[in-house]
Amino acid sequence: MKPFLSLLFVLLLPFAACARDVRPTDMPPGHAVASAHALATEAGMDVLRDGGNAFDAAIAVSAVLSVVEPISSGIGGGGFFLLHDAATGKDVFIDARETSPASATPDRYLTDNGEFDRDRAENGPWAAGIPGLPAAFVHLADRYGSMPLSRTLAPAIRIAREGFPVYGRIERGYRARAAVMERYPGTREVFLANGVPPKEGDLLRQPDLARTLELLAEKGYDGFYRGEVADKLIAGVNAEGGQWNATELASYEVKEREPIRFRYRDWDIVTAPPPSSGGIALAQMLQILSGWNLAELDEVQRTHLVVESMRRAFRDRTFYLGDPDFVKVPQRLLTSPDYAAGLRATINPAKATPSDLLSGAPTPLESDETTHFSIIDAQGNRVAGTQTVNLLFGSGLIPPGTGVLLNNEMDDFALKPGTPNAFGVMGFEANAPEPGKRMLSSMTPTFMVSPQRVAVLGTPGGSRIITMVLLGILGYDAGLDAQAVTALPRYHHQWMPDVIGAESDTFTPEVAEGLRALGHQLNLPGDTAAGGRGSSHVWGNFQTVSWDRIDGTLEAGSDPRNPVGRAMVEPAKAAAR
Ligand code: GLY
Repeated sequence: MKPFLSLLFVLLLPFAACARDVRPTDMPPGHAVASAHALATEAGMDVLRDGGNAFDAAIAVSAVLSVVEPISSGIGGGGFFLLHDAATGKDVFIDARETSPASATPDRYLTDNGEFDRDRAENGPWAAGIPGLPAAFVHLADRYGSMPLSRTLAPAIRIAREGFPVYGRIERGYRARAAVMERYPGTREVFLANGVPPKEGDLLRQPDLARTLELLAEKGYDGFYRGEVADKLIAGVNAEGGQWNATELASYEVKEREPIRFRYRDWDIVTAPPPSSGGIALAQMLQILSGWNLAELDEVQRTHLVVESMRRAFRDRTFYLGDPDFVKVPQRLLTSPDYAAGLRATINPAKATPSDLLSGAPTPLESDETTHFSIIDAQGNRVAGTQTVNLLFGSGLIPPGTGVLLNNEMDDFALKPGTPNAFGVMGFEANAPEPGKRMLSSMTPTFMVSPQRVAVLGTPGGSRIITMVLLGILGYDAGLDAQAVTALPRYHHQWMPDVIGAESDTFTPEVAEGLRALGHQLNLPGDTAAGGRGSSHVWGNFQTVSWDRIDGTLEAGSDPRNPVGRAMVEPAKAAAR
């Protein structure tokens, strides 16, 4: 950990532990929004100023992210939305994950020689699941919002039509995916509209996407899943050799699920249930860690125990998790404190456990793309939203006339059990594709609630989402503010490979040496001992907001690793103009 943050962590831990004897305030003093793009944050804040609630703002933010971050998410993809409805006091998890088309049987992903067809799994029509995000907008507006979609989608429609300035990540991402994207006429029409690939500072206009969003605003569900847009989506997929049909589009539905809940010290943690793997893993890791007072430990010892909790949670993730509508997930067992206590008892505080002493099979890694936003409104409603098209620019396929860049989420299924996926890891049966099934995800939108403080948090980052959210929770628990939580240095262990990965500069040489002395392998920048790759880049794009109920203050933090993100807080007076 960077020395100054490490020191802060240690200094603040004792303060975080003592509850303040002051009456909590009833309501947040205003609104807070954090997202990975300033235009999305501003759109959400504008909806709140106009009298909308956090759910209306979530639609606006999510839709604008879909327009300005096609690299990460979009209405051709899916997402998870964790809601807190202040009027009822209820938390609900909206699962808008993509579903498997009926045609996507495992044999479709094999070459003539019976080999796994990676191109088919990642690129073009067979890579895409049936999108969920448009149905989530309709569901949120109908059940929780106070404004029509014509208002909440208006900023996204305007930005799609008028364009937004291309930033570095889009230019670089397009370069990496150009060969695939330029296969498809509908994609060329959008990304090569000027005859050349998008360049930083150019305006990227998406008029067909604007029209599709308008139809969604006018006709609701039928504007996307039936009629003109659905016909074009099916025609575009099938023209490239895919096999979508009208019935599976017209029958897509979001699911409302009960979130996972557990205690960690003073906090009630509310988080993502299956088909996310994140909430179960978080419950295991934090309940294992609750057996120690991390504040009393030095950095080597603390990191060792956190890594050992990661190792055990990721081992279990492999065996049991999939779409709960298709497979029986032993959620009660996996999230119980007693089970965590059993896992804790297997940890040697003085020595790393070699991963091959824990039985199981390797864990899938999902992609680094994806995006997250966090919102609190002045009524106390909250939304944590994480959404994705999977890999950079998803499948690369835009069915002509729709502007809808389709996801490549099918690669999050175990398409060929026993064969490594895009990230070199194996699949497993609970996550095999079946018609209408949702693929396993790591997206982990999360709430932390204590008598003193409420926080909304999440990040993209594939399977590292789960460990980044864990480190964020530990950061809040240590008393860090929202911005400091987004800046925390990151490390990750996922059982297999048996190695600690980390961002550059996460560990001082002394801490790295201390971890090695306990028997850990580290994969650090320039480190050849553990395979030679190291981690020279930064991870994640953490977006969080928090409300201090005692001080009556709101905070928002946007990851400093992302120059186009934005966190905003506004007092209720300015908000209610
Ligand atoms: N495709 C990334 C995830 O769902 O975790």
